[in-house]
Amino acid sequence: MTYKVLNNITLKNVNNGVISNIATDLLVIPVNKKVTASAEFKELDKKSKGYLSKSAKDSLSPSHQSHVITSLDSISAKKILLIKDVNQKNDIYLWLNKYKSIAKLANSLNCKSLSILDGQSYPTGKDQSWFLEMIARSIESGAYIFSTTKNKTAKAEKVGSNVVSSQASLKNVSIITSKLSANGIKKAKASISRGFSVGEGVNTAKHLGDLPANHATPKLIEKIVKNTLKQFSGLKVKTLNEKDLARLKMGSYLSVSKGSDEPPRMIIIEYNGGKKAEKPVALVGKGITFDTGGISIKPSSGMDEMKWDMCGAGTVFGVMCSLARAKADVNVVGIMACAENMPSARATKPGDVVTSMSGQTIEVLNTDAEGRLVLADALTYVGRYEPSYVIDMATLTGAVVIALGSHASGVMANNQFLADKIIESGEETGDRAWQLPLWNEYKSCTRTNFADLANIGGGREAGTIHAAAFLSKFAEDYKWAHMDIAASAWSSSPKGGTGRPVPLICDLILNKKLK
Ligand code: BES
Ligand code: MN
Ligand code: ZN
Repeated sequence: MTYKVLNNITLKNVNNGVISNIATDLLVIPVNKKVTASAEFKELDKKSKGYLSKSAKDSLSPSHQSHVITSLDSISAKKILLIKDVNQKNDIYLWLNKYKSIAKLANSLNCKSLSILDGQSYPTGKDQSWFLEMIARSIESGAYIFSTTKNKTAKAEKVGSNVVSSQASLKNVSIITSKLSANGIKKAKASISRGFSVGEGVNTAKHLGDLPANHATPKLIEKIVKNTLKQFSGLKVKTLNEKDLARLKMGSYLSVSKGSDEPPRMIIIEYNGGKKAEKPVALVGKGITFDTGGISIKPSSGMDEMKWDMCGAGTVFGVMCSLARAKADVNVVGIMACAENMPSARATKPGDVVTSMSGQTIEVLNTDAEGRLVLADALTYVGRYEPSYVIDMATLTGAVVIALGSHASGVMANNQFLADKIIESGEETGDRAWQLPLWNEYKSCTRTNFADLANIGGGREAGTIHAAAFLSKFAEDYKWAHMDIAASAWSSSPKGGTGRPVPLICDLILNKKLK
């Protein structure tokens, strides 16, 4: 099961400057100088007897950025939405927000279809391909509404063959371009289709995160992932259960699920669209389906948000779906390290020492530092694939919320090229990331008298880096980056998954930036 909201996003290229005959529930016109001078706008304005240009002048202002016009004679669109276009010099996030809000407005107006005129004005340094991809991604992800566990307060629907329920009314979207060459049309269609694939991956990640923890246990996630195989023949899935993990000597991973009645699952998804000899990029995601803290139990206030502690794994799943949908010619292996962290009579206790798959022993000084314990063994395991690069994603530390806030994911790496490319893809997609140092000075804190490593260290200092320093001891054999997504993967107000960093990772992989 993947989460695709829209049926399609198509390209409509007009050559004759006529758009008044486009039948749609909502026609979106970004108002800027290029658009108002275009044949398409003039044609529409003429049909409206000048009402359109007058509205654009009178009704849009810095404090009133959009204006809806209903039922104009001789124009097929049921409603027209005029939006004040974003300034080319403005930051990418403002463009993303604008297009996401269009999808949300379309849903709130109960529109089934939407047509957006290409504003022909793009952020500085970006071209039409970038722009069309961004629109497609933002509209698909902006249209997402969670309602799977609503019964009487939402209308459930089947979206195509995808078994999901959604309140989204929006189903069909087209982007209107003007006078493109045959080659231009081909390019534009490819950009739209890619953006749509990434938007679908974003929604898949959001949806897995938004599912309550009792609807997304490791076993249920395994089921959800296996179901996607029906949809995407390009994906291969293998799952390791508790016995398998024990056979592999993953004592660190198993120490986390020990207190829970829900057994762990390590889910491995392979996508091989590239050349046989090409080494895969590996993605590893923290998948704590609920993090109570274990015996080092968390305070109860806000604990519900720990259902999103599997967003790293959700990102892996979302990305793999996007790659399969886009039929990307790359090799990628994704690992979802799923477990539930609960206190119980069987739970790991502070001070317990466990042996990881790498052979290193770990003193579990705090059972709430559990993400690094599952990742340690998952990172060792992924070495088997001889990956070209490994990126792990994890809602690992509350400290990153304090350090960077929600606008950037934290990046730490043992390879600067990889860190640079991650940051670059963040800039490209508006799904930004920022680097923190991972110097050797930070690595000494994991020392203890009772094991090779302790799972916490450094006290209140640099919690995000100390967590990464711990992970680095399990990632010495390959080029590796760790992304701490504790602040970026979901929002507390309004509550909901963001699907980040699916756009960043997709850009990195689809554009082959790791060559
Ligand atoms: N999942 C949490 C991190 C987290 C906390 C994410 C708050 C988002 C919001 C993680 O497992 C955790 O509990 N980390 C501890 C580590 C500490 C015990 C060293 C933390 O950050 O407090
Ligand atoms: Mn924790
Ligand atoms: Zn956690």
